[in-house]
Amino acid sequence: MSRAYNFCAGPAALPQAVLEQAQQEMLDYRGLGLSIMEMSHRDNVFVEIAEQAEKDLRDLMGISDDYAVLFLQGGASSQFAMVPMNLLGEGQTADYINTGQWSKKAIKEAGRYGKINVAASSEDTNFSTVPPQDSWNLSDNPAYVHYCPNETIGGLEYSFVPAVGDTPLVADMSSTILSRPVDVNQYGLIYAGAQKNIGPAGLTLVIVRKDLLGKASSSVPAMLNYQIHADNGSMYNTPPTYAWYLSGLVFSWLKKQGGVGNMGEINQRKAEKLYGFIDNSGLYSNPVEVISRSRMNVPFVLADDRLDKPFLDQAQAAGLLNLKGHRSVGGMRASIYNAVPEAAVDALIAFMAEFEKRNA
Ligand SMILES: Cc1ncc(COP(=O)(O)O)c(C=O)c1O
Repeated sequence: MSRAYNFCAGPAALPQAVLEQAQQEMLDYRGLGLSIMEMSHRDNVFVEIAEQAEKDLRDLMGISDDYAVLFLQGGASSQFAMVPMNLLGEGQTADYINTGQWSKKAIKEAGRYGKINVAASSEDTNFSTVPPQDSWNLSDNPAYVHYCPNETIGGLEYSFVPAVGDTPLVADMSSTILSRPVDVNQYGLIYAGAQKNIGPAGLTLVIVRKDLLGKASSSVPAMLNYQIHADNGSMYNTPPTYAWYLSGLVFSWLKKQGGVGNMGEINQRKAEKLYGFIDNSGLYSNPVEVISRSRMNVPFVLADDRLDKPFLDQAQAAGLLNLKGHRSVGGMRASIYNAVPEAAVDALIAFMAEFEKRNA
């Protein structure tokens, strides 16, 4: 068996140690004669797995008891609707910052549920910049301010946490969660699809300050109501048990790697190497302003797009997978999440250098 280096934006690479443990525990979980997939979510064995996962996540991110942690389904895309359904009251306005394709989707969806003010946008720079906070037109007393700290498609990452005073700050952290330390106390709500830095697809994490619960109107379906999930320990219905278990293994692996502080340093080094190489090459380029370059998703284009196909074919043959950019923007993208080791970035750079030489 040989595992290639996987630069997929999501579902993304998982740590090999996690997959090996899951494989070992697959058929007969700890001598119980069945797999976790075949066990009731109410079984004490699973409840313990679920509680340990939450505890480890709380340790990793420093999440206090003021916050509920919800293990939901429906992907981050469901949160585009659930956030306004739960936090945007009658007659209120929510502020959104538009920095790319995911912000845009969140804005469009939220507009179906209430009044949205796009307080700033970098669409005029083709989402290659983050609008400086002093240019934002925030409303008077908005219900919340929503932003996407890391735009997975454009490879654009905020270098600052927006300062919004007492207004709840809501963040779509799908592609940056657990990649480095964040101060959860600065947020009202954080959400993330699991399939990048958390675990497999099928699980969606919501970290929500408890005083924001209970605001949904009575017409909001139970399955879309944060309060109901919080009251039921995310087991109002059958949760995605296997994805929850695998995410727990990832959290435990992260703790063994020294937590998000250590991960942040490794991720910084990986990103610096790759951007450094791209900036010094004659063939590759990245359009994003330097201060807002994503540490997780590195898009780049080749000077001659006729080389795109040979680049991708030869990369794949060299064991470097999933480097094609998002279908909406083209070019290439290397996603270098936690489970993508530094050696993968080194191998990618070596391949890119070779390719450039051959095609000079
Ligand atoms: C930043 C961001 N938000 C939202 C989504 C949508 O997530 P999902 O597919 O889980 O609905 C993605 C998916 O890649 C993403 O990267």
